[in-house]
Amino acid sequence: MIPVKILVMHGPNLNLLGTREPEVYGRETLADIDAALIALGANAGAQILSFQSNHEGGLIDRIHQAKSEGVVAIIINPGAYTHTSIALRDAIAAVAIPTFEVHLSNVHARESFRHQSLIAPVTVGQIVGCGPLGYQLALRAVLARLK
Ligand code: DQA
Repeated sequence: MIPVKILVMHGPNLNLLGTREPEVYGRETLADIDAALIALGANAGAQILSFQSNHEGGLIDRIHQAKSEGVVAIIINPGAYTHTSIALRDAIAAVAIPTFEVHLSNVHARESFRHQSLIAPVTVGQIVGCGPLGYQLALRAVLARLK
């Protein structure tokens, strides 16, 4: 059986996880987060593709590519682009691939500029404030939808 492809996307500054404001984002690295998702996916017959970029256009190009690759779902932490990027939101809407949004921190309990997500209206759901576990919860939600 060919495994289904699920794309996990990490936006700006998330490459610094582990050392970036650990009191807010914890000590797990991006590699740790991806490794846990790859293991969880493998158990369920899913191939996890991971992509990180600090550039809005790079993230948008990767979303477009996902369509032609047959990616069945996207899990994205758009970082600060969550609060600013109409272009990223439009890319998700354009490809119409079911997408879950994840934030390590509880954005609603932080500065007011983090309270609004321009991405959320084009997602299936949003998981916030659960730390790295949030990605695994999103993957479980994706896998449940695929059943
Ligand atoms: C974040 C929250 C954003 O507001 C912030 O800009 C990030 C990380 C989170 O995972 O909690 O870069 O997306």
